[in-house]
Formats: sequence, C-alpha cells, structure tokens
Amino acid sequence: MKKNDSAFFLRLPESRGVKGLWQLLSGYRLLYIVALVSVAFASLSRTLSLLVIRYLVDDVLVSKTVLKELPLMAVLFAGLAVLEGAGLFLKGKFSAMAAEGAVQRLRDFLLDHIQRLSFTYHDHTDSGNLIERVTTDVDILRKFYSEKSIAVGRIVSLFIFNLAGLLFLNVKLGLVSLLFIPFILFQSWWFFKKISKRYEDYQVQEAKLSSVLKENISSIRIVKAFARQSFERDKFEKINYGKFKKGRRVILLHSLFWPVSDILCTTQLLFVYYLGARMAIAGDISIGTYISIAGMVVWIIWPIRNLGEVIIDASQAFVSYDRISKIVSQKQEDSGDTDTGNELFIRRGEIDFSGVNFSYSSGEEALMDISFHAEAGSRIALVGTAGSGKTTLINLLPRFYDTTSGTITIDGVDIRSIPRSGLRRQIGIVEQEPFLFSRSIRDNIVFGAGADVSQEAVVEAARAAAVHDVIMGFPKGYETMVGEKGVTLSGGQKQRIVIARTLLKNPKILILDDATSSVDTKTERAIRQALSALLKGRTSFVIAHRIQTVMEADRIIVLERGRIVEVGSHTDLVSNDGFYRKVFDLQMGGEGENV
Ligand SMILES: Nc1ncnc2c1ncn2[C@@H]1O[C@H](COP(=O)(O)OP(=O)(O)O)[C@@H](O)[C@H]1O
Ligand SMILES: [Mg+2]
Repeated sequence: MKKNDSAFFLRLPESRGVKGLWQLLSGYRLLYIVALVSVAFASLSRTLSLLVIRYLVDDVLVSKTVLKELPLMAVLFAGLAVLEGAGLFLKGKFSAMAAEGAVQRLRDFLLDHIQRLSFTYHDHTDSGNLIERVTTDVDILRKFYSEKSIAVGRIVSLFIFNLAGLLFLNVKLGLVSLLFIPFILFQSWWFFKKISKRYEDYQVQEAKLSSVLKENISSIRIVKAFARQSFERDKFEKINYGKFKKGRRVILLHSLFWPVSDILCTTQLLFVYYLGARMAIAGDISIGTYISIAGMVVWIIWPIRNLGEVIIDASQAFVSYDRISKIVSQKQEDSGDTDTGNELFIRRGEIDFSGVNFSYSSGEEALMDISFHAEAGSRIALVGTAGSGKTTLINLLPRFYDTTSGTITIDGVDIRSIPRSGLRRQIGIVEQEPFLFSRSIRDNIVFGAGADVSQEAVVEAARAAAVHDVIMGFPKGYETMVGEKGVTLSGGQKQRIVIARTLLKNPKILILDDATSSVDTKTERAIRQALSALLKGRTSFVIAHRIQTVMEADRIIVLERGRIVEVGSHTDLVSNDGFYRKVFDLQMGGEGENV
C-alpha cells in the first residue's frame, strides 16, 4: 500500500454503518457500481424473457397469427438468456475485484497501523483479539462486498422488475401477489435475527472449546505430570456438551423456519394462480398473460424470503467494521514526532537521566527520581530484586515508553525530540525473553541488519555470542529452520542467537536484560569474554544476577522498588553494607568456587 492511502483510512472511524463501508471502497467504487448495474441488468432480462413467453403463447401458439416469427422468438429468448448470464458473470467478476482490492488494502493498512501502536496499547490488548480483527472481521467485510450486498441488489431488483411486469400485465393480480409479502418478510427477518443470536452463542461456545483444547494440548506434559487428565477431560466434556446443545438449538430453529416459510410462500402462489386461472377462464386475461404472471410471481416471492437472511448476514459487516474502526482510531506511536528532522546519530553515547519518574498507565510509580550519568563507552550494571524496575528503566531509552516527568538525554539531546525509529536503530536490546521467528537461523540473526549482510559478518556475530559451534552442529547449519517446522532450541541457545542478532546490528548503545540468565555458568563465561571485546566503544547496560558479570561494570546501580539505593563501582559497593554486599557474600560463598 502506498503511504498516501493512509490519510484516507485515518478518517475511517468518523463514519459508521453504510457510509463507512462505502468510504472503505474508495478507488473501487466504479467497479462496484458496474457490478450492481450488471445485477439489475440480469434481473431485467429475466422479466423480459417472461414477457416474450406471453407473446409467444398468445400471438404465435394460440392465435397462430405470426407463425413465421417463431425463429425470431427463439433467438430473442436465447439472447435474453445470454444477457442474463453475462450480467451475472460481470456482477461476480467486478464485485470480487472491488471486494478483494479494498480488503487487501485494508489488511495491509491494519498490519502497518498495529505495528505503529504504542507499547502501552499492546500491553493492554490481547494479541488473539488483534489477529481476529485482521482475519475474521476483514473477511466478513469481504463477504459483505462480494456476496451480501450484491445479493440484496439481486433480490431487490428482481422484486422491482417483476412487480412492474405484473402491474403492467394486470394491476389486480399484481396487487394480490403482494398480499403475503409483509408476512414472508417479517417471518424471515424475525427468524434470521433469532438464529444469528443463537449462532453467536454457538460460536462463543466453540471458541471456549478450542481454547480449552489448545491449552490442554500445549500443556499436556504438565497435565500428565500432575495426573490431572480426568479433571481436564471432564472439563472438556462439559463444554463440548454445551456446544452440542447450542448446535441442536440452531438446527431446531432451522427445521422450523423452512416449512413455515414454504407454507406461506406456497399459499401466496396458490392465491395468484387460482385467481389468475379464474380470470383467464372468464376471458379477462389471455392464456399468455396467465403463464407470464405465473412465472413472474415466483420471482417475487422466492427471493424475498431470503431477504431476511441476507440482511441479517450483511448487518454483521457493520459490527465487524465497528470493531476495526476501534483499532484504527487508536493513536499511532510515531504520530507527531516523525518529521522533526532530528535524526540523531549517536556519536559518543553519553547518557544522562535526570529526575526521571515513570508510571505505567495502571498508575503506581514504577520509577522514582532516577538520576545518573553514564559516560560514553562505559558499562553500567543494574541490580535489584525482581520487580524493582530494572526492565522498566532500560525500556525508557529506546522510548518504548516515555517518562512521566524528568528527562533522558543522549549526547546532550533530549530523546523525546528524536524520532523513535531513528533512536531504536542505534540501540540494541537483548530482552529477557528471547524471541525467534519461524525462519532460518540466518534470517533470525540478520533480522535487524538486512538480508545483504555477508556470511562472514553473520559468523563473526555468532562466534561472539558463543553460538557458532551450536549452529554448525545442525545438518543445515545457518539455514536450519527454527520453530515448529525446524529444530527445538534451548532457552540458552535462543538467547545467544538473539545476542548475535543484536551484535550484528552494531548499535552504539547495547542493553542486555538478563540476557545470560538461562545459560550455564560455563557458556556465560564464554559469552562474557566474547562480549568484553564487543562492548568496547559502546555504552552498555547489563542486567544480570551473576555477580561475576556485574562486578566488571564501570558503575553499578542498585534499584529497590523503583528508586536508586546504591551507586558505585564494585569496590565502592562491597565496602558498603547494603544489598549489593549481601548478594556478593551470598554468591561468592555459594558458587564462588566454580568461577
Ligand atoms: N507493562 C507493564 N504494565 C504495568 N506495570 C508493569 C509493566 N511492566 C512492569 N510493570 C510493573 O513495574 C514494576 C517494575 O517491573 P520491572 O521493571 O519488570 O522489574 P524488573 O525488571 O526489575 O524485574 C513491577 O511492579 C511491575 O509489576
Ligand atoms: Mg526485568
């Protein structure tokens, strides 16, 4: 999608209902109108061919006045059939083109938009929910354009043309054929409203079922380990029975509707046939007119009874559109700061926090009065108990979140004046939870650097992260696939691949958030030695639990409940009688000998 399309989409949430759906079609509206016109054309051909039948019966067959026109009749008849077919074909083609085009553009837009939403938004939004919007809801819109609204057009145009034909042939019979229409319409509307509710219940139950199923299967080891199979099975059976009952209700309603609807429609038909026959016998209308009317009335009644279904189905599109609008109306993270022109190029990497406070949207302060200075190229270690705010602090640097008050500067520039993407390109983070994509190992490593990186550079990064030998141990080496279709990697292996990915990005500022927590002491030492060389010339933040990693830092910051409680070098802090000293004593006493 071209960028200039997004301006149009950002207006979306303002209009609801039909107007909004019409806006979404922008650029494809002409195609769509052609599709609707083709439908009307097809319907008109049907009515016309019924009028031709009347002429054929009255003037050719019965009175035999214009016998020589029989071949012409045949040609006319065939011509109209071809026209109807062509109309229906064009309707299908153009509506599909418009629907697919508009919907493809919407999907592209949504992914782009979701990627631009803030961390705060994503913290509070279930990812499954967002996936549903982009897949299911968008698909409901597609069906609305390509099927439902076109079906409404077909039903309505059939009704109009055939009613006009009926009134033209005989006003009285035309009016009589409308007698039951209100009942048929009402019954259809009532039924489909009811059934769509029941069907929704059914789908909710189905969603429950699949989530229980998914949880159960993915946690099968735990279920077995705790010998909870029968408990889980009972839980599943209960929900499954619920689904069965709800499904039965849906089917029951269906089996009630169609017979009742059949009776109503057939009665209406019978009425017209009977009255028409009497009029024909009395000579009020010709035989041809009678046959023609009998044909037209069918094309009024049968489509009408589907109108309820189509309308209720179509109204789902409004609900989907509403849900999509809610996402679209969320403010994008980068809006407002992308064109400041302040594309910072970090030269030295000198960092200052001054009086920084921060709270997540939940309210409680996660960081209070954080001030410190990090010299260019220095190594800062962050220490503290779980929940003390270490991750929160480093998340402020790439502007995953902005400070509530106070400022952070890099080389003297307030980071709030630097566009987020530019900033993030120059900061490398190895997160606490390593994440790998279901792609090859190589693709995972070059993720931040682009695909045209040389293999030597990739290997160098992998060596530095002490993972090259592991990778070469796989038959396909760097082309080995990761994830369900490939190898299963241990937590430590994943973390080292992520470290390689971050190193290859060659950032000026490097953040390692508990990056070595799930590797053994020996591997950690290997990584530590490799990193030592790589950390040179970069300002780095290291969050770690092993004292050996922490003590090499130029400066150690100890956090406690969001506040800095100790700052200094290793020698400074061991001489204090604080948290750091306690951790040092504990670890050196316990596992010190294996260092
Ligand atoms: N996304 C979030 N939304 C709201 N609160 C959070 C979020 N992430 C962390 N917190 C809270 O902030 C505090 C600090 O957490 P964190 O920075 O993750 O600690 P640490 O990394 O030191 O273990 C904790 O009280 C935690 O519950
Ligand atoms: Mg953390």
